[in-house]
Amino acid sequence: MLMAGRVQFGPGVSSKAGEMVSGTGAKSALIVTDETMERLGVAERIAESVRSAGVEVSVFSKVEPEPSVETTDEAAKVARGMNAGAVIGLGGGSAMDVAKAVSVLVTNEGSAAKYQGLGLVKKPGVPKIMIPTTSGTGSEVTFTAVLIRKSDGVKGGINSDYLYPDMSLLDPELTVSMPSHVTASTGMDALAHALEAYTSLKASPFSDIFAEEAMIRIGKWLRVASLNGRNIEARGEMMLAALFGGVALANAGVTACHALAYPLGGMFGVPHGVANALLIPHVARWNAMASPERFVNAAAFLGYPQEEGEPEHVAAMFCSEALAELSDDLGLPETLEDLDVGITEKHFEEMATKAMGVARPMENNPRVLTKEDCVRIYREAME
Ligand SMILES: NC(=O)c1ccc[n+]([C@@H]2O[C@H](COP(=O)([O-])OP(=O)(O)OC[C@H]3O[C@@H](n4cnc5c(N)ncnc54)[C@H](O)[C@@H]3O)[C@@H](O)[C@H]2O)c1
Ligand SMILES: [Fe+2]
Repeated sequence: MLMAGRVQFGPGVSSKAGEMVSGTGAKSALIVTDETMERLGVAERIAESVRSAGVEVSVFSKVEPEPSVETTDEAAKVARGMNAGAVIGLGGGSAMDVAKAVSVLVTNEGSAAKYQGLGLVKKPGVPKIMIPTTSGTGSEVTFTAVLIRKSDGVKGGINSDYLYPDMSLLDPELTVSMPSHVTASTGMDALAHALEAYTSLKASPFSDIFAEEAMIRIGKWLRVASLNGRNIEARGEMMLAALFGGVALANAGVTACHALAYPLGGMFGVPHGVANALLIPHVARWNAMASPERFVNAAAFLGYPQEEGEPEHVAAMFCSEALAELSDDLGLPETLEDLDVGITEKHFEEMATKAMGVARPMENNPRVLTKEDCVRIYREAME
């Protein structure tokens, strides 16, 4: 089983940050976060918890959404400069990914760009503790840190066993301030992780358990969490769903949807969750016939059970319908045109080439995809 070393869940659990850091033996810690968490005073609350546990603490709050290698290197410079004994990632996937990368950059020299790929990190990092504030990426339990290289607009993961967090504190109270549209798009990212892991060629009985539980929870709670963000039960269920989606992803991988979504982030700055939410109904339609039983089950988890006498290949298509309806209810953009970031037909070749370059998710996909197929899917998602 692959996931974070320890996970604690519950309203208020983030107040244990100080205790957790001092438990690692670290004398100093860097909190890696973003401006929002600074502005909301959450960064200071966590810093105070660490300080009062007798650990010296600094805050780096310059992480941008869809973070870059350059920002990560800047944060690493701060961590190296203070000889950080631990790193705390506070925020959504963006802050957590930078924090995970920084933790290994304290002990491995050079730029984060050197380690983008699989298994390139040489030494373990300093202890890392994740405190998510979105319910989406599952970064709090995965071995990946996704960073954009500004030079060529390519989004690439540092994938290494040394990136698994040592501890994650899952506090639903921290997600209450998340705006409705961020709740919606990050929740759809979690759903994409679960569905893609469930239909991945690498799915196993172990990853299935987590993927199924994530899909059931998201089908039931994402609308409520997004439209009534103060509902702490919905927030808690979504936080668990994202966690389970992350465990499923770490063990079975993602598939073509994530590969196709990466160029939208790398080339046009589209938020990761928005890109996945937009593409997942199209990819589900594309894949359904290659693995009908899985898509029939997934549709049922999302509230579209197969009707009596309905052929499997027909019922499988309802998974795509369920995803599109959910996205629509949440008010997420439905087409590439709706994104209004200047994507036109003439970009499809380059986007498809970049998507095909995201090799492992493409290899996990239940239906074989060519570059031409990628162009076709982008075209379907256009209008
Ligand atoms: N490591 C992994 O396994 C993994 C998996 C999927 C995605 N990712 C990466 O994660 C990044 C996206 O992370 P994300 O979707 O969580 O979004 P994010 O971290 O970029 O946050 C999105 C926005 O929401 C704000 N925000 C976050 N929490 C908030 C809160 N509680 N209250 C108010 N505002 C809040 C942030 O400040 C930001 O402006 C992408 O770079 C993506 O590639 C990583
Ligand atoms: Fe994702």
